[in-house]
Formats: sequence, C-alpha cells, structure tokens
Amino acid sequence: MSDSSTNFYDLVQPAVKKVNPYVAGKPIDELKREYKVSYVSKMASNENPLGSSLKVATALHNFAANMSRYPDGSGHNLREKLAAFLQVDMNQITIGNGSNELLELVARVFAGPDDEVMYSQYGFAVYPISAQIVGATAVEVPAKNFGHDLPAMLAAITAKTKLIYVANPNNPTGTLFRRDDWEAFISQVPSNVLVVLDEAYLEYAEHACNDGSYPNGVDYINAYPNLLVSRTFSKAYGLASLRIGYMLGCAENISYINRLRMPFSVNAYAQVAAITALSDPQFVTKTLRTNDQGMMQVRNAVEAKGLEVIPSFANFITIKFGENALEIYEKLLREGVIVRPLANYGMTEYLRVSIGNNHENNHFMGALNKVL
Ligand SMILES: Cc1ncc(COP(=O)(O)O)c(C=O)c1O
Repeated sequence: MSDSSTNFYDLVQPAVKKVNPYVAGKPIDELKREYKVSYVSKMASNENPLGSSLKVATALHNFAANMSRYPDGSGHNLREKLAAFLQVDMNQITIGNGSNELLELVARVFAGPDDEVMYSQYGFAVYPISAQIVGATAVEVPAKNFGHDLPAMLAAITAKTKLIYVANPNNPTGTLFRRDDWEAFISQVPSNVLVVLDEAYLEYAEHACNDGSYPNGVDYINAYPNLLVSRTFSKAYGLASLRIGYMLGCAENISYINRLRMPFSVNAYAQVAAITALSDPQFVTKTLRTNDQGMMQVRNAVEAKGLEVIPSFANFITIKFGENALEIYEKLLREGVIVRPLANYGMTEYLRVSIGNNHENNHFMGALNKVL
C-alpha cells in the first residue's frame, strides 16, 4: 500500500521520464467549451474535410449486430483485401491502431537503450517519441529546405544506428523526396539498419507529383528486407476516428511486429470500414480533387497577403507568420478556426493549416483577414 509520501516520479522508468508527449490538434468541443464559440472549423489534424465514404457508413450500420464479438486480431479479411489491392503477400502486411501504433511498435521491436534511432529535423513528432520510449538515443539530422536531407542521413549512420524514420511527404512541412534521391538512399543503407518509410499522405503525394517521380514504397519491399512502409486510413480515406493503419515489409519482420501487437488492437468496425473504403476509389478521387482546389484557394490567398508558404504535397500547408505566429493562432481560435502551432517542432514562426472544404477554407481566410 502506498502512503501520501510516495514519490511516484522515482518509480517511473528512466526512458519514460524523458518522453515529450505528443501534442494533438485542439479538439472542436474543447474550443467550444473554452472560447464559447459556436461554429468551428478544425484545420489542425489533416483530416478529410469530406468525411468518409457513404458506403462505409452503410457497412458500419449493417455491422452493428456483431458488436458483442471480439475482432479478428489478425485482420485476415482486410489483409486479404490489401494484398490483392497492392499485389503483395498477406504475410507482408500487418494492421495497427492507426499507423501510429505501428510506428511505435517498430521501435519497441528493433531498438533498445544501446541503439540510435534517426529521423530528420522537422520529422513527424512520433519518431522521437518512439525512440524515447525504448530508451534509444534519438539522432536528429538537420533538414534541407525543410525536407529530409537523405545524403546527410546516410552520412550520419553509425555502428549504433538501428532504425531510420523517413516520411514522404513529411508532416508538418509537406516536403517530398523523389525516386532518384530515395533509390540512392535506400540502396546505400546497410542491410542491418531498418528503414521505416511513413507514407501517411501517399495518395495526395502520388497525385500531386504528376510526373510519376513519387517513389511508392510497395515497389521496394521485396528488394529491401530492411524496409518497412507504413500507411493509414486516417487521411485520404477519412477514417481517422476509427484508428486504422497498416505496415508492409518482409514477412519475417512483419511477424516480429505481430508478436508485440496487442491481440485486438484494431477493432472490428475499423476493419470493416477499411475494407469498404478500399472498394470506393471514387471517394478518394473526389478527396484529391477537393484538396487540389482547396490547396490552390488557400495558397493563393495567403501568398497574396505576402506570406511565405512551404510548398506542400499533402493535405495541409505550412505558412510563415513570423514572430506573431502564436498570437495569430490564438486570435484564429477566437474566430472559431483551429490550426496547428509548430513550436514543438522548433518552427515558432509557422502555423500548419489543414486544407478544408470550400466552406472551411473561406472561414479560415475570412478569419485571417480579420486577424491580420
Ligand atoms: C506523417 C504521419 N505519419 C503517421 C501519422 C499517424 O496517423 P494515424 O495514426 O492516424 O494512422 C500521421 C498523422 O497525422 C502523420 O502525419
């Protein structure tokens, strides 16, 4: 039994004490509660402004009678669907509670306190957290033009490097690396160093990169057994609330990840939704068209105000507001618009804005006119 003098901090694992927790976008209800605003546009978490496919809603409704059953922990039906969709073997795929779960699991499977885990400056916040959780040394390689400097990452590999996270495109900067640079990189990474290629925004990037130079990770998993590719249904498929993503790699590495995965980490609704979403490519096409229009609308409007943006290949855009960025963020909240401050990435002068639907984009631009 503990008494009131117990200092629980002393009981916490040293690696956990070092973890900087993930900072999520402000939830809509929180803003309504705190700021008493009734109408909110959330443009802070790169969600799909069209919602999700109507076919998914119908499938979930029909599935409700099965709520009392545990899900299939192996996600057999979804993996079968994905295997056919991607032309890979089922045993090259595992599913996770969002790709986030898998990104973190990889670190727990492959890295420990004596290892180095590498990622780029401005790389997605989950990478350093995953390194910290396992007590590994997090190695941040300076970015180049806000994107990954792949040659510098290669040069930073040491005998202790176990895992390298790269995101294509990257969040929060929206930057992309092309096929030539990727191939030069992956072909030179030693085979005993794992590379995790995070393709959360793959659909947007493949579409935006219309000269075909986007390197699709699936094309490389057979040639490079040390490569793992993560993807999500949270973005282009609009299923963020259900928490479902997947990882691709060589069957052996995937089997080790499955050892650590909790038996039922992906619920049955999420699996049914993902299977159905894959059968509605028209929804993704509409999503990409909406994003194209919104990206142009927002980018043109902010550039017309003389603001600089980081050109983005995803469904968000990062804008330089200067030293008043946080103040502008606060003022936008009062106008009912939630965007994302980037101070936790060391980008204190920037705000990241998720591209919304026409209505949300207009709300943001109207609010910005007022605030500036
Ligand atoms: C680059 C990147 N990777 C992974 C994720 C995690 O997505 P999820 O856990 O919803 O699949 C995100 C979410 O914003 C992201 O931006």
